[in-house]
Amino acid sequence: MKAPITVSITGAAGQIGYALLTRIASGSMFGPDQPVNLRLIEIEPAMGALEGTVMELDDCAFPLLNEIVPTCDLAEGFRGSDWALLVGSVPRKAGMERADLLGINGKIFTGQGQAIAANAASGVRTLVVGNPCNTNCLIAMNNAGGIPNDQFFAMTRLDENRAKSQLAAKAGVHNSVVTNLCIWGNHSATQYPDFTNARIDGKLVTDVIGDRAWLEGEFISTVQQRGAAIIKARGQSSAASAANGVVDTVRSLTTPTPEGDWTSVAVCSDGSYGIPVGLIASMPIRSNGTSWEVVQGVGLDEFSRAKVDASVAELSEEREAVKDLIPS
Ligand code: NAD
Ligand code: LMR
Repeated sequence: MKAPITVSITGAAGQIGYALLTRIASGSMFGPDQPVNLRLIEIEPAMGALEGTVMELDDCAFPLLNEIVPTCDLAEGFRGSDWALLVGSVPRKAGMERADLLGINGKIFTGQGQAIAANAASGVRTLVVGNPCNTNCLIAMNNAGGIPNDQFFAMTRLDENRAKSQLAAKAGVHNSVVTNLCIWGNHSATQYPDFTNARIDGKLVTDVIGDRAWLEGEFISTVQQRGAAIIKARGQSSAASAANGVVDTVRSLTTPTPEGDWTSVAVCSDGSYGIPVGLIASMPIRSNGTSWEVVQGVGLDEFSRAKVDASVAELSEEREAVKDLIPS
């Protein structure tokens, strides 16, 4: 039996936590032969609800679940962590943009970044889900002195999955044949789901779907507004699909990317594609199962370039808005 991987999850008693924990404990995230320790972090008022979630995990009798530690202490919660999944934060309500949450949620990520640096394993990888996730990740990364920037990620995989599903439906194909779909920029209403480089069964999407007006219009806005549409329909933000996005993101970073393909995740920019260094921006990534790299040479036509620039400009504005939470 392999040694267990330790996974810390904040907001473990929330909606996404509820959908995510069984996926991790059953082996969907790290595979069917990988035991896991779960360190479940909540705020004090939610500890009662977390106790109920732990009871349910116990009642699943998962063969791969080695240990569960429920806690509202950050040091205990991140101790020895190999993966820190930062979900805990307030979701937006109908009528809000995700950036409206910065003032409420941003400060959560200073203490969590510090606690990760002080307590987690040195190779810990952190995935931020709590919104606005790119800039919350920026805050956590900059407060986690000593942990390399390339170990921080923010989630745009849910957007990638949404975009693939929309393209597949339009083309009348299964979503599994849609590849090379990159979400660029911010997990926000400015994100750019790049149809110009995406492929269906190996062919350019633009050669398969002749309706350019739909691609430039309805397709992009549907993906950009999907989170809001779900909030309107459910009265609560996406949870099962968000948890699935977390599982997909971690699997994509821990297994080799299929030949010729890429995946979307927001990472600390090294200046690729003219994105300012240090911003947490989504771009095309390949993994070898251990480390990752930005895919270079993806062509951006004039339309795409303007969309990427707009989303990146928003990230710069968000960075400016939280500069007090970033140590100089
Ligand atoms: P929720 O309200 O159901 O659960 C959030 C949980 O976080 C609660 O249990 C709360 O007690 C806990 N929490 C709050 N502050 C905390 C802190 N400081 N430390 C630890 N736990 C804390 O919300 P949810 O539906 O699970 O969504 C969580 C976040 O994920 C929201 O910000 C939401 O907008 C975001 N989200 C992101 C994506 C994405 O694609 N990046 C997708 C869906 C949701
Ligand atoms: C989503 O994309 O579903 C989440 O970011 C929740 C939201 O506020 O849209």
